[in-house]
Amino acid sequence: MAFDNSFIDELKMQVNIVDVVGREVQLSKAGANHKGLCPFHSEKTPSFMVNEEKQIFNCFGCGEKGDVISFVQKYYKIPFMEAVEKLCKEHGIRMPEKVSKGPKIDYDKYYDINAKAARFYYEHLTRSRNIGYAYFKSRGLADETMVKFGLGYAPESGYALVKHLRKAGVSDDDMLKLGLASKGKNGLYDRFRGRVIFPILNTTGKVIGFGARTLKDDVKPKYLNSAESEIFLKKNNLFGLNLSRKEISDEDRVIVVEGYMDAISLYQNGVRNIAASLGTALTDNQAKLLTRYTKNIVLSYDSDGAGIKAALRGIDVIRKAGGKVKILQVTDAKDPDEYIRRFGREAFNKLVDKAIYATDFKLRLARQGFDLGNSYEVLEYIRKCVPILRELGPVEQDIYFRKIAEEFGISEQAIALEVRTDADIKMPAAPPQGSTERKRRRSENPDRYLKLEMSLLILSMYNTRYLKRIDEDAFVFNSSIGRKVNAIERSLCEDDENGLHRIELEDICRLLEPEDESSFRYYADIIKLGPDDEAFYRQCLSGYELQKCKDKRLEVLNELAVAETMGNAEDVTQLAQELMKLNDLISKLSEGKNV
Ligand code: UTP
Ligand code: MN
Repeated sequence: MAFDNSFIDELKMQVNIVDVVGREVQLSKAGANHKGLCPFHSEKTPSFMVNEEKQIFNCFGCGEKGDVISFVQKYYKIPFMEAVEKLCKEHGIRMPEKVSKGPKIDYDKYYDINAKAARFYYEHLTRSRNIGYAYFKSRGLADETMVKFGLGYAPESGYALVKHLRKAGVSDDDMLKLGLASKGKNGLYDRFRGRVIFPILNTTGKVIGFGARTLKDDVKPKYLNSAESEIFLKKNNLFGLNLSRKEISDEDRVIVVEGYMDAISLYQNGVRNIAASLGTALTDNQAKLLTRYTKNIVLSYDSDGAGIKAALRGIDVIRKAGGKVKILQVTDAKDPDEYIRRFGREAFNKLVDKAIYATDFKLRLARQGFDLGNSYEVLEYIRKCVPILRELGPVEQDIYFRKIAEEFGISEQAIALEVRTDADIKMPAAPPQGSTERKRRRSENPDRYLKLEMSLLILSMYNTRYLKRIDEDAFVFNSSIGRKVNAIERSLCEDDENGLHRIELEDICRLLEPEDESSFRYYADIIKLGPDDEAFYRQCLSGYELQKCKDKRLEVLNELAVAETMGNAEDVTQLAQELMKLNDLISKLSEGKNV
């Protein structure tokens, strides 16, 4: 065989037999298996079984059985090598050049060295009751848990592991390759020193790498991990999965956490369907690996900015791998570890039951920064929801249309229209060229502005002194009706010889065109002046300012979303600062209460 066993293991971990067989054979779920008509003999009732957890097929009719590679060999009638190549090509897996062409990597040798290192760390943890052991105790771990996860301690002295491995016949070169040692002026020294050790095992139980946590608050980094290498792809594995996959499959649900300690702590407290994605957002391969055991994935990341970002990316990755995502946000504690230690298993399970669907999570995030008491902002919020709803299938879309329609008293059809029609034009994240005008118009609130302009004009109709004030304050009327009425008032005011400082509504109306006239009469009817003209005037001006700021804020929020999507850090910083200034201004203006 030209391939190394471990590469084949790796390949089989990344490819799901149910997908591969399912492309050729119609399968239906039957208990723990998928069932279909056997492609290798002719039959009318299905006796061909595919087991997703074990990644094997088996026909009770003709006796054919095997793994994903032998299925491809038999079904397409191709030799082993070609079957492997075919699977690699179809799943975007790189064929290890060194293995297929150059000298072959002895994976088993490396696994063995890692296992020796793990044993060394474990013995140091237990040999003398050292500070590593005390540390784990202080974090509430029982002795069995330490054994179960094979936890260890890397002694402070700089060369203990190097010496130990040399004695066992391990070459310096191999220690370097595995990232167990580093090269200094005086030769090799241990990479992990004075840290507690978390061995990372793949699902076949091989030690592929290590995580190492410092015991001191001031040492950076907090966690030092074995470097990713061609040999050991930590990103294809999840911490804890070697122990938890049975429970994950039985419960048909996995809880994915960020940290080693979260996974261990949940496991110890009886929540065993867990895996840790090790600080990074979930990778495609990790998601594929998980969906082999269950399609139901609950992401329980920290509630900080980084955690939310990781969750958002995780949602897309899991959906792509064919899984269903829910988001669990821990409240009242820093992370799942702290939560379960403080409140116990029952409470944690309740949180899991309350985990929200990915779409609800995204919609909830989209809400932030909107004042949903204001119907205009509701509109902007719904526009922000559109791309989120577009990702969904039609049935799910309908459910969310109904939810949003009910909440805001809008018709479902209207929302459906927004979501299901011309995708490009309305996507706020990618405005087409020349769309500034459209954007500006869309993000203004004409009714609100118009009402404020009309208020000023009606005030100056009853008290013409305010025409002068409007000039002094350099207020500009933007609506055409506003400009017209203002001009008329000025002209009528010049004729005011009675010292009344007042213009009659009818005098204004006589000079307006029919359409403007009915509009102005309407406003004259609904706008009520207060007892204090001066206060009313000020409220109008600050209301106008406030509205402008709110519109500006929406624009900035939109731009911020674009900059964040594009990963444009400079713009994000600048826009965030602008947003803060606007928020300040808005709260100041709001205190002066608008009309
Ligand atoms: P956290 O900083 O949230 O730590 O990182 P934690 O898991 O709560 O750690 P404890 O409870 O203080 O021990 C979450 C995960 O991110 C990865 C680790 O996998 C960690 O468990 N990480 C974090 C790193 O790889 N390097 C770091 O420097 C920090
Ligand atoms: Mn923690």
